[in-house]
Amino acid sequence: KKASIGVTGLAVMGRNLARNLARHGHTVALHNRSEERTRALVDQFGDEGDFIPAYSAQEFVDALERPRQVVIMVKAGAPTDAVIDEFAPLLEPGDVIVDAGNAHFADTRRREAALREQGLHFVGTGVSGGEEGALHGPSIMPGGSPESYQSLGPLFEDISAKVDGSPCCTHVGADGAGHFVKMVHNGIEYADMQLIAESFDLLRGAAGYSPAEIAEVFRTWNTGRLDSYLIEITADVLAHVDASTGKPFVDIVADQAEQKGTGRWTVQIGLDLGVPISGIAEAVFARSLSGSSELRSAARDLGGPTRAPLADVSGFADKVEQALYASKVVAYAQGFNQIQAGGAEYGWDIDLGRVAAIWRGGCIIRAKFLNDITSAYEAEPGLPTLLTSGGFRKAVEEAQDAWRSVISTAVSLGIPTPGFSTALAYYDGLRADRLPAALVQGQRDFFGAHTYRRVDREGSFHTAWAEPGRPEVSA
Ligand code: 6PG
Repeated sequence: KKASIGVTGLAVMGRNLARNLARHGHTVALHNRSEERTRALVDQFGDEGDFIPAYSAQEFVDALERPRQVVIMVKAGAPTDAVIDEFAPLLEPGDVIVDAGNAHFADTRRREAALREQGLHFVGTGVSGGEEGALHGPSIMPGGSPESYQSLGPLFEDISAKVDGSPCCTHVGADGAGHFVKMVHNGIEYADMQLIAESFDLLRGAAGYSPAEIAEVFRTWNTGRLDSYLIEITADVLAHVDASTGKPFVDIVADQAEQKGTGRWTVQIGLDLGVPISGIAEAVFARSLSGSSELRSAARDLGGPTRAPLADVSGFADKVEQALYASKVVAYAQGFNQIQAGGAEYGWDIDLGRVAAIWRGGCIIRAKFLNDITSAYEAEPGLPTLLTSGGFRKAVEEAQDAWRSVISTAVSLGIPTPGFSTALAYYDGLRADRLPAALVQGQRDFFGAHTYRRVDREGSFHTAWAEPGRPEVSA
């Protein structure tokens, strides 16, 4: 019997994907650079399903039924290229290579184009949900050709998370679309985490709650519109007590957030596309600031406000919930606009409502909230921003007084809330009737003759600033 799919790269993510496939009744060929991992998988989990261990690339390829489907799960970058170079020559036209790692979508586009020349389908796919997700049902975001999805889709839909019976997997779009969408998922993940962290910081710094009390606040929030995996695990992290010191776990962890790079990519691409994803950018910068140890120690004694924390904390947690909710809507609105812009730039036909739907389960940002995003795009596929869709508009309008008041409190107490603040600035910027961008245009024209457009006439204009009377000319 041949295998319907093979997995090469059997570190924890690859191993768990292979086990998930086998547990769903698919025969899975296994391969790893060093043989031990392959043997260990079969020894430990061989009874979970049908595995065909292979100890060379040729053996692995020979174990697969056609069209062959090879899933690569190795480190992004050079290791991925090395594995592709090893397998591509052994495959035949129509076969499918899947890169399930966190590759940069530009690499995926390059690889897809090169392999297409050889008649191979290359599918860059986002997989979210960490180790547990890979084993029990991740959210899967495959790109690549529609043909490749005909054979791959049923397998991936089978092993993905399910919400209300629908699989958290869809063909996102051609070539690098899957990895692009996964990248933005991670950017949104950074923003969401930052906003939750700011909520914690405010509840502690402004209202004086303990981590254990804040865990309870989050548990309550998790029964409402903020119901999400990230809120749920935050409560668990905050309730955890360090065994060796008896202190709250959150107090013994070094306060320097690390990053592997996908959030940074999201911001870099956001800049390239000209999409204001300020919430995601602030989240990445907040991690960078936290990690700037020398800068932080040099600045530690800078003066701050002398105000005391809130005397009356009643209602404050509820206001923070509203600020968090409104800021979260902004961060997601920005992320979805980035996907829309990426789709337009690279010619992908991405259904934003479907993207939200496959993020409802399996992935790190899974949340009830995503149902509302799906509904918003279903009701209005050309929606310019989630903020103007009926439900979100109303909820954010209702939350805005609390949102503003929480940020004022943070500012007056000197508690940094870059995520909340930038989200509100974005909201107010979009709402503004006139922006001071007009003045910026005037400045540009003054020092560089960069020209400007007028509100009352077509064309480009320049004012001769140095001449008497400052006459205007058509540029
Ligand atoms: C997921 C996660 C996953 C990974 C992040 C962590 O969707 O399963 O996003 O891809 O845990 O990349 O990223 P940082 O190390 O950059 O925080």
